[in-house]
Amino acid sequence: MAKKIDGKAISAAVRQDLAKEVEQLKAAGTTPGLAVIIVGDDPASRVYVNNKKKGCAEIGIYSEEIALPADTTQEELLAHVEALNTREDIDGILCQLPLPSHLDDKAVIAAIAPHKDVDAFHAANVGHIMIGDYSFLPCTPAGVMELLHRSGISVEGKECVVIGRSNIVGKPMAMLLLHENATVTMCHSRTRELKEVCRRADVIVAAVGKAAFVTPDMVKPGAVVIDVGMNRNAEGKLCGDVDPAVDEVASYLTPVPGGVGPMTIAMLLKNTVTAARRRAKQAKN
Ligand code: GUN
Repeated sequence: MAKKIDGKAISAAVRQDLAKEVEQLKAAGTTPGLAVIIVGDDPASRVYVNNKKKGCAEIGIYSEEIALPADTTQEELLAHVEALNTREDIDGILCQLPLPSHLDDKAVIAAIAPHKDVDAFHAANVGHIMIGDYSFLPCTPAGVMELLHRSGISVEGKECVVIGRSNIVGKPMAMLLLHENATVTMCHSRTRELKEVCRRADVIVAAVGKAAFVTPDMVKPGAVVIDVGMNRNAEGKLCGDVDPAVDEVASYLTPVPGGVGPMTIAMLLKNTVTAARRRAKQAKN
């Protein structure tokens, strides 16, 4: 049986620290503010946005939802982003993805002021992550690193395999592991001999988007397995990318739900507090 890495508990500890920081910022006259844009009525996006707003409320961050209809035009959406860019009381702007297909998500991300881009999706922030010099954390990968740190797992010199090469998870995940001196292999849909590559790994991060994709025969006995997946199985139940039978082979495993998911929001809150702290500092100068 693998040890379970409890994302709920670790996230609660991170949020508790953040709540104290928010209290101090407020006492000094700065209330951190996050604006969340949601376009259309995708049910999964609705759940994510509600969780983000709830996360803000719990630690005293002001949040504002801009809910736009599915037929919003690109110009209308960009006008909202531009208005938020100039708002004094808004430290972070987040546009929930995916957007309806007629909208250009790259242009929207590019329009967000980099110093308010708490998702760290803007090219300027991605560049900072690449060179290892950044203040906005890529939320999901940073959440994974926090889980590893707080579980006493070092990746230094270890073989780490990231499955999935998305801009949101896979690519920045590889960078964060690399910054901590892991030997990183990125796998994707065209990777040959995936099973053999995965079996070399001391740490596997699965961000594929397919239920039960990582099977026990892909995992070296004693490996650490981090499951970033959020899928629905045939019965409609929430499940990750990792087959539950991996529990018999791995040394550590993150559950779904209750593993990486709660950490992503904790890191978003952390970025918002970072942005507010920066604003407070500038106001003093
Ligand atoms: N959609 C899925 N994950 C994310 C995320 O981390 N940020 C945003 N903005 N949209 C998402």
